[in-house]
Amino acid sequence: MMHLRGWLLVAGVLSGILFFGWHATHAASSPKPLSSFDPQVKPILAQMTLDEKIGQMTQPDQENIADPADVATYYLGSVLSGGSSDPKEGNSLEAWTNLYDRMQKQSLKTRLKIPILYGVDAVHGHNNVLGAVIFPHNIGMGATRNAALVEKAARITAEEIRATGIQWTFAPGVMVPQDVRWGRTYEGFSDHPELVRELGAAAVRGFQGSDLSNPLSVLACAKHYVGDGGTTFGSAKTGLDQGDTRVGEATLRRIHMQGYLSAIKAGVGTIMPSYSSWNGVKCSASKRLLTEILKQELGFQGFLISDYDAIDQITPNFKEGIGISINAGMDMVMVPRKYKQFIANLKGLVQEGAVPMSRIDDAVTRILRVKAAMGLLDPNRSQLADRNLQRTFGSAEHRAVARQAVRESLVLLKNQGKVLPLKRSARVFVAGKSADDLGNQCGGWTIDWQGKSGNITSGGTTLLAAIRKNAANVGFSADGKGAEGAAVGVVVIGEKPYAEMMGDRKELSLAPEDIAAVENVKAAGIPVVVVLYSGRPMTLNPIFGKADAIVAAWLPGTEGEGITDVLFGAYKPKGRLSYNWEKQFAFGFGM
Ligand code: BGC
Ligand code: BGC
Repeated sequence: MMHLRGWLLVAGVLSGILFFGWHATHAASSPKPLSSFDPQVKPILAQMTLDEKIGQMTQPDQENIADPADVATYYLGSVLSGGSSDPKEGNSLEAWTNLYDRMQKQSLKTRLKIPILYGVDAVHGHNNVLGAVIFPHNIGMGATRNAALVEKAARITAEEIRATGIQWTFAPGVMVPQDVRWGRTYEGFSDHPELVRELGAAAVRGFQGSDLSNPLSVLACAKHYVGDGGTTFGSAKTGLDQGDTRVGEATLRRIHMQGYLSAIKAGVGTIMPSYSSWNGVKCSASKRLLTEILKQELGFQGFLISDYDAIDQITPNFKEGIGISINAGMDMVMVPRKYKQFIANLKGLVQEGAVPMSRIDDAVTRILRVKAAMGLLDPNRSQLADRNLQRTFGSAEHRAVARQAVRESLVLLKNQGKVLPLKRSARVFVAGKSADDLGNQCGGWTIDWQGKSGNITSGGTTLLAAIRKNAANVGFSADGKGAEGAAVGVVVIGEKPYAEMMGDRKELSLAPEDIAAVENVKAAGIPVVVVLYSGRPMTLNPIFGKADAIVAAWLPGTEGEGITDVLFGAYKPKGRLSYNWEKQFAFGFGM
């Protein structure tokens, strides 16, 4: 055990040195301030009825819009697809593009013809769509320490999003998770605010480009403001997710607000207030956080989009919750189901004087200035999908960048007796439940909201398939039996996919089948290389002594060849822990 602890300390020190030595690598050309579009917005706002204004502030989920004509009837400003809200026709590129066009065509039937913004969670590639390139989740991107690469990955993601017509992603997550038991840990680049600050801004630059009106740019959304990664264990039903962050304002600013400072500087157009609370007050209800700090002090000029049904959590009375949130500074509300009720309630609140007209006008101005900046208010521009962009969707060129991200994200935790790199001529025995499982390789927020094990998408390469491309003599069994006679074993283990609400854990131990697979290969008397897929640091004690080499591969996505690039020695491992592995022991388990 000393061995493990000693090693982890070394890794911790190494990452400390890296943090220390790093500087902003970017002299970013500042995008145009969003308020510079107000001269274009003012005359439109002046013509709008209250119904048209409230419609702009409303975002239902497409799966609950029984009749697409509602987009026109209610002058909707936006539509989203939540985690598993897929087109009825399935998840093909074609089906997603048709869904977008179907919704957008409705907006053109309205009096003012203001296009909708269509939003999705493209958090590691355009991850809802079959055949999209899937990048490592942010925890792996953090381990690359490569801001230029994060920017490039976001740029490619933007291009694949636009190939379906969609123009808005609820990304990047700029959470700074302080307790790795949280099931959204992997959505954060790091537990270290400085790394989040740097990479969050890089992602915003990649998504939005230097000009939001570029047809290859998408609107970004920094989330979840603020302190989503700082909740106290036990303050939420599942442990941490959507819980309460109990820290003083100085700590909130020093740790959890850093990503917003840089995202705003990079021109981020939207920010999503968190489900979580700050010292007992829901972020979505906090005028201090939304208006005083974010808009007034930090000068955020874009608009705030609430989280999915977050308004419901403010108070049991829906109408009252709407009033509280809008008056606190919320600009657009994600009301997946109850959009008609939301519209009627907000209209009532305005007519009763409970929500001032000036607040409505501010919200709509913010929404329309983002639309103006994106070229959505240009009558000469088609707002339907540009299907020419589909030519590069999931292309080899895009996959090459994801592969680079995978290989740069790998952290070599151990390499005893220099078992790595592997020889191509050696007989390699591959084992473990995740060796040939694209779903486990991608993690949550891939095709399905929670992700799913198995052959979930097309175009990717599992690690087993990648090893077969590198070595001629490859054996395989999931349980690790039958490894006798091989020169080396590669055992691929780790977490199965999960996402928000389902991913909180009391402990981070390995599955018994994973431990057994390592033991079975070890019992064949050959050196064992463990590749770990996980959304956070895990307790490795049961296998640490049995493995000769261990590679933390995070949730690498579709490009398994990024791992073989390192395993077979074409590239040196250069990832550095983006989370402090040692920290989990403070939670009272693992040693
Ligand atoms: C999540 C957000 C996500 C939204 C839309 C929420 O439950 O917290 O991160 O953007 O759903 O799917
Ligand atoms: C997800 C949806 C999901 C819902 C469940 C949202 O965050 O985005 O896809 O159905 O949560 O409450």
